[in-house]
Amino acid sequence: MFDVNISKGYVDMPVPEGVDLVTEIEKMKREKNAVVLAHFYQAGEIQDIADYVGDSLALAQWAAKTDASILVLCGVHFMGETAKIICPDKKVLIPDLNAGCSLADSCPADSFAEFVKQHPGYKVVSYVNTSAAVKAHTDVVVTSSNAKQIVESFPENEKIIFGPDKNLGNYINGVTGRNMLLWDGACHVHSQFSLEKIVALKKQYPDALLLAHPECKRDILLVADKVGSTAALLRFATQSECKRFIVATESGILHEMKKNNPDKEFIPAPPEDSTCGCSECNFMRLNTMEKLYNTLKYELPEIIVDEAIAREAIKPIRRMLDISASLGI
Ligand code: 13P
Ligand code: SF4
Repeated sequence: MFDVNISKGYVDMPVPEGVDLVTEIEKMKREKNAVVLAHFYQAGEIQDIADYVGDSLALAQWAAKTDASILVLCGVHFMGETAKIICPDKKVLIPDLNAGCSLADSCPADSFAEFVKQHPGYKVVSYVNTSAAVKAHTDVVVTSSNAKQIVESFPENEKIIFGPDKNLGNYINGVTGRNMLLWDGACHVHSQFSLEKIVALKKQYPDALLLAHPECKRDILLVADKVGSTAALLRFATQSECKRFIVATESGILHEMKKNNPDKEFIPAPPEDSTCGCSECNFMRLNTMEKLYNTLKYELPEIIVDEAIAREAIKPIRRMLDISASLGI
């Protein structure tokens, strides 16, 4: 449609001077019948302009039910791929194609396929933070919102491979009593919180509750007051009587937490090696309002998934959506 260079992975065009990004983005959404789906880890201004803000499961569920013609996925690449696989006939855009995921990268599809081949008779459960090619070797996809229930839906003696997040896998093994075989992958943001610094914070604020995402390491999860997906942590913070929380997940979630709970205090859990004391996912933060504006304007860059891979990858994604719907998740 437009002759635009996206060799950098995004539309590298200056936004015209004087443009009000919020007004223009809203206008283009209406004119193009486009919706913006944003993850809780996006910058606050992107969350504020999104039509839907949610965790990985909610983003997939919204993609499955929207009748918009264009979906702009403000999140990372695997989220865009998942939306495209669910909606092959829609245009799925992402502001910056470089928005990858260290966890998804820790599980290359060919090595994972080999691992699966070496373990015949195992069911394969994959976290949504994987490439479409890994999903194509999977029996059922899970997110942190439904992993426990989906694993429990298998017979107790079922042999299961779980990938790629070993921290989430370990946690699910613990709460279900299963003994799944784990792929050795991790997220660079969640695996670097410092137990020592968290314990020091807890001493400073003895009334504070520790909220942790299950991608965090075991030592953090053991001392957490609540372990859950981004959506579950948000719900807990809102429903709890407590007024102060230490939050061990990507710090973008603090935007929604503070918005929903203006009377409560949220302290980002400190990483092991940082002077700023916050934990941002560098991939998530590649999306900006300027890139979102250009994405809507030029309808680029688009997420494309190989058709043969998509035909296989849709099966475990559908199973996840169906099981979740039947369990009311
Ligand atoms: P959820 O939103 O499913 O909790 O996932 C967290 C995450 O790491 C996404 O990248
Ligand atoms: Fe991936 Fe971790 Fe970033 Fe989530 S926070 S997108 S799991 S690297």
